[in-house]
Amino acid sequence: MNSKYIKEGAIKMSYLDTTHELYKEAALTPQASLCCVTSQARFLPDLNVPDIMHEMNYGCGTTVHFGDLNPKDTILYVGVGGGLEALQFAYFVRRPNSVIAVDRVPEMMAKAQENFKLAADLNNWFQPDFIKVVQGDALNLPIENESVDVAAQNCLFNIFKENDLTKALAEMYRVLKPGGRLYISDPITTKPIPEHLRKDERLRAMCLFGATVAGPISGGSFNPARSIAPGIISGNMEHLWLYIVSPTMGAICGSLLYTVIGNSPSPSHEATCANINLDGTYI
Ligand SMILES: C[S@@+](CC[C@H](N)C(=O)[O-])C[C@H]1O[C@@H](n2cnc3c(N)ncnc32)[C@H](O)[C@@H]1O
Repeated sequence: MNSKYIKEGAIKMSYLDTTHELYKEAALTPQASLCCVTSQARFLPDLNVPDIMHEMNYGCGTTVHFGDLNPKDTILYVGVGGGLEALQFAYFVRRPNSVIAVDRVPEMMAKAQENFKLAADLNNWFQPDFIKVVQGDALNLPIENESVDVAAQNCLFNIFKENDLTKALAEMYRVLKPGGRLYISDPITTKPIPEHLRKDERLRAMCLFGATVAGPISGGSFNPARSIAPGIISGNMEHLWLYIVSPTMGAICGSLLYTVIGNSPSPSHEATCANINLDGTYI
């Protein structure tokens, strides 16, 4: 365990270490209800998923977007869990080492590798060496610059606090080839989470309370796209009227104010505008 620090005489683990411990336990004793999954994994023809991988589906939604995947892609998957999505990615690329699965927790890596062997017994097309499992940290990926076509993570980045999230995203950007694709899937919440729950590191590690708030929230933006976009994406249009009326009122008040105090342009400004044609010639 690294990054322990001493505070007021007590040894305190960082939230990253709490997360590490939680997923060590979840590798040694799979817990079907640990994370936020509410739906079954997608069905793919000729893909037989071992039961243990369903049980260890510690993600939400999916990062495996069929239409976007190319058999020549090299795919980085960060936070392997029980290996379900790494296996689904391998289904599309089917080459040794074409999926690189990085995880910080040795017990989780070992469990995923065990699960890939079970998957090979159930699927003639699959070989465990299609997926290279590598120990490493999302905050400092052991991957070369600009070396992967797709970088994906499911239900890990929501655990990170803001500074670490910035680092994790910068790492994904660093390792992606120019024009590469980033796929992420994380829980969101439509209501702000009380601060005392956000501070609970174990709940954060369980993907419950690090979630981003998405819904029309009061951020005071006069840009309707910024105000409404989170609501559209999350499907939560509560208080929509407020986000339409406020910027409209702002624009009306602004133009009235301009009429009163700012509608007396200088002669030089008028001359400049009036004397130039669209093609750049003078009249
Ligand atoms: C919530 S689980 C998600 C697992 C998998 N993505 C899924 O959808 O089932 C988080 C995973 O990230 C791993 N992990 C935790 N902290 C990590 C870190 N800092 N860097 C890389 N992996 C980490 C855990 O061991 C675990 O496998």
